Amino acid sequence: MPAVALYCENLPSQSFQIIHGNAYHVVQGLQAKRFRAIITSPPYYGHRRYGSDGMEIGREQSVEQYLQSISQVFIAANRLLTDDGSLWIVIGDTRRRKEKLRVPHRLADLLANAGYKFREDIVWYKKNSVSSSSPDNFSQSYEYVLFFSKNSRSYANLDAIRVQGNEAMLGKTEMPPQHMLQYCPENPDKKEIERILDVIHKSTPKTPLSSFPSTSEISWAYGYDPDKFCPTCYRKFKRHVTRRRIGGHRHYPIFAVCNPTGKNPSNVWEIANRAHLGSQHFAIFPEELVKRIIKFSTEPGDWILDPFAGRGTTGIAAVQLGRRFVGIDLYLENVNNAAANILQAENLISGSGQ
Ligand SMILES: C[S@@+](CC[C@H](N)C(=O)[O-])C[C@H]1O[C@@H](n2cnc3c(N)ncnc32)[C@H](O)[C@@H]1O
Repeated sequence: MPAVALYCENLPSQSFQIIHGNAYHVVQGLQAKRFRAIITSPPYYGHRRYGSDGMEIGREQSVEQYLQSISQVFIAANRLLTDDGSLWIVIGDTRRRKEKLRVPHRLADLLANAGYKFREDIVWYKKNSVSSSSPDNFSQSYEYVLFFSKNSRSYANLDAIRVQGNEAMLGKTEMPPQHMLQYCPENPDKKEIERILDVIHKSTPKTPLSSFPSTSEISWAYGYDPDKFCPTCYRKFKRHVTRRRIGGHRHYPIFAVCNPTGKNPSNVWEIANRAHLGSQHFAIFPEELVKRIIKFSTEPGDWILDPFAGRGTTGIAAVQLGRRFVGIDLYLENVNNAAANILQAENLISGSGQ
């Protein structure tokens, strides 16, 4: 089927473009190296029907055929990415006769074998997922966000998505009172630090713990009140201290200070799923999830592609964050909905004077 493509390179001043057609064909007609990121949630295998077009992905006879048609879109899209570009695929698995088909894992293998660098399989934990009524399956409460880069290194802005608080200490993630936070060291004691390091480095696995300086002594030596809190992870400074060397590693940090702008996010993202929006669409991924990816993987002004645009969530998040967007969808109704939704988001921004 020929793609009904409104080629966006003829309209360079527009901030977004939605193209009606089959993703594989449209991708082949787009201008190379334009996109900093491809961010998408393709149809899952055998989950739902979006229309009656024979080119629709997800309705194949076998999972192998599905993997073939979905991977060929991403393999063809590789040439569209800038050299520091990345590909993000939000995808879930499918069960057949109790067995999981391992769709995300097999897709990751196919794309890695085709040259993409497989960087991360982030677990999107949907804290509001619905429990399963199956007598012997667990409830499915996560999906994967597969992160690939075109080359070994890709554009990454971790500072844009750093996190505060200590997610490891359930129930203790509240911000401590302001006067109990310490932002920088006060009068670190170099001589005392040297003495402490000497003790640590000369220790052996048989050295009794009692011969080490206490965690509070170490904290004071580094210039931190052991009972004050770290403004990033909210732990007391005496909890930042590790007194034992691990294995034979001589330079194990015994006092590590967190990055003051926040911690590296983990690869489990807890984000509530979105309710379905009436008649508008189905299987919508949350803007919060897309925004996290966009902030990390692109800069304002960059182009982002979603080959399975649906109602345009990626586009909405993109224009809200000052990026430019190209979406593709097989069904005209989705193309029109996505365009209307993105335009509305854009008008809201210009209306609010941002
Ligand atoms: C899971 S939905 C995307 C939802 C989207 N992330 C959102 O938040 O609205 C997948 C979309 O892929 C579209 N689709 C299915 N097969 C396609 C194909 N061969 N080419 C382009 N789009 C296709 C469907 O129409 C559907 O809108």
